[in-house]
Amino acid sequence: MTIPYPTIQPTPAIAAVTPPSGAPRPRVTFLGTGYLGATYAICYAELGYEVLGFDVDADKIAMLNAGQVPIHEPGLDELLKRNLAAGRLRFSTDIAETAEFGDVHFICVGTPQRAGGMGADLSYVEASVTSLAQHLTRKALIVGKSTVPVGTAEWVEQLVGKHTPNDLGVEVAWSPEFLQEGFAVDDVLRPNRIVVGVKSEWANGMLYAAHKGVFDLAATEDREVPLVVTDFATAELVKVAANAFLATKISFINAMAEVCEASGGDVTQLARAIGYDPRIGNRFLQAGLGFGGACLPKDIRAFQARAQELGAGEALRFLHEVDLINLRRRTRVLQLAADLLGRRSGPAGPDFSGTRIAVLGATFKPNTDDVRDAPALAVAALLQKAGADVHVYDPQGSENARRAVPELTYEAGINEAVADADLVCVLTEWADFRNADPVALGELVAGRKVVDGRNCLDSTLWTQAGWEYRGMGRP
Ligand code: UDX
Repeated sequence: MTIPYPTIQPTPAIAAVTPPSGAPRPRVTFLGTGYLGATYAICYAELGYEVLGFDVDADKIAMLNAGQVPIHEPGLDELLKRNLAAGRLRFSTDIAETAEFGDVHFICVGTPQRAGGMGADLSYVEASVTSLAQHLTRKALIVGKSTVPVGTAEWVEQLVGKHTPNDLGVEVAWSPEFLQEGFAVDDVLRPNRIVVGVKSEWANGMLYAAHKGVFDLAATEDREVPLVVTDFATAELVKVAANAFLATKISFINAMAEVCEASGGDVTQLARAIGYDPRIGNRFLQAGLGFGGACLPKDIRAFQARAQELGAGEALRFLHEVDLINLRRRTRVLQLAADLLGRRSGPAGPDFSGTRIAVLGATFKPNTDDVRDAPALAVAALLQKAGADVHVYDPQGSENARRAVPELTYEAGINEAVADADLVCVLTEWADFRNADPVALGELVAGRKVVDGRNCLDSTLWTQAGWEYRGMGRP
């Protein structure tokens, strides 16, 4: 028999609390309906909660109320439509209405990298918490979900104290999220753990009630969701520590790729062989073009900046190296391209003028339309800057990529992108590219040369079809 509820918690039992609104289950709001807030709002309605999503962006709110998800995330469209129709879910730009509605308010706004440095920009957190606090008229719990520098929750508590009347007794808690793009719906409905940073029994009870839908779903599926109840600082650190670990694991295997390149080893076989050791594990050991996206790159930088402020900068100095290893993989693709095209590298890198290069993939990973800090798009831009005529195809990300890097040529399909190309670079491991037929593609190109930036192609198949193949960290 499985135990459905808390496995790790300092208190023996979580006190049942009544939501201040008087509703049987806490009514929840999500402030910020970007990737995080929209996904959470929709999935929480699916879990049976009454939900209101708030954003200052009227266009986004109108889209969501009309049943359109502004991002590409498998499964989310259907859940949005179903829960709007069920009347459990709505979206608003009215902060007074949001304050009035909720018992638990989740802060889900962005914390981008600061324009002039490595630290996180907390202006959206400040704006949303301040305006919410000013409009509260009864007790409520404000819960941070955004990824933030350690110490932010204490500061949010002070902001709330400054902007709400004391006798309301509004409290603050922190509960980080661990969503992976492409799997976000399941990551909310079926998380591998829930972490809460709380200061009172009331906040603990309220957050437990606000997660009960997740625990109940787990119980019906004979699963267990571990709950970690901790302090503010630890809850904030859990998120950045997890992302730092993942980034380090990827850069570790990419560092091994560099050593394989120098010594003639094959990093894909090395990764397989070390991954069988359960202490190491085989996940997040895919050597290739490295990590990108809206989280890992900015989070490891913000973590270093915060540690520096706290006088613990030395402890995270290795993350600088993790970042450098990651960025070096991009220049490696240029070296391989130069090698295949017979171009010599000068001090400013190789010159590709007069060549046509097909880039397959623009997003930071497959099954998303997100091109933020995408290694694939960065390499495409570098190739173009070095003189190549670059033709890009991505199954979902072309529109976002065109907005970010308009000077590249975007094509409607694989065939159009590779037509007459002197070189093909596969830079995101979409299934369409992995399963592409190298014989058919070979008929379309000017030269059968391929850089496999994600080690996702069957090198034997491509070589047999007459292609000169180069992978990452492979002989
Ligand atoms: C990540 C974390 O996984 C998630 O828990 C956190 O909440 C947000 O950041 P996400 O940005 O969606 O999620 O992407 P993830 O699947 O972790 O991949 C990050 C990057 O690492 C991608 O660019 C991917 O291509 C790359 N990667 C991943 C590798 O290069 N090799 C690997 O083995 C795994």
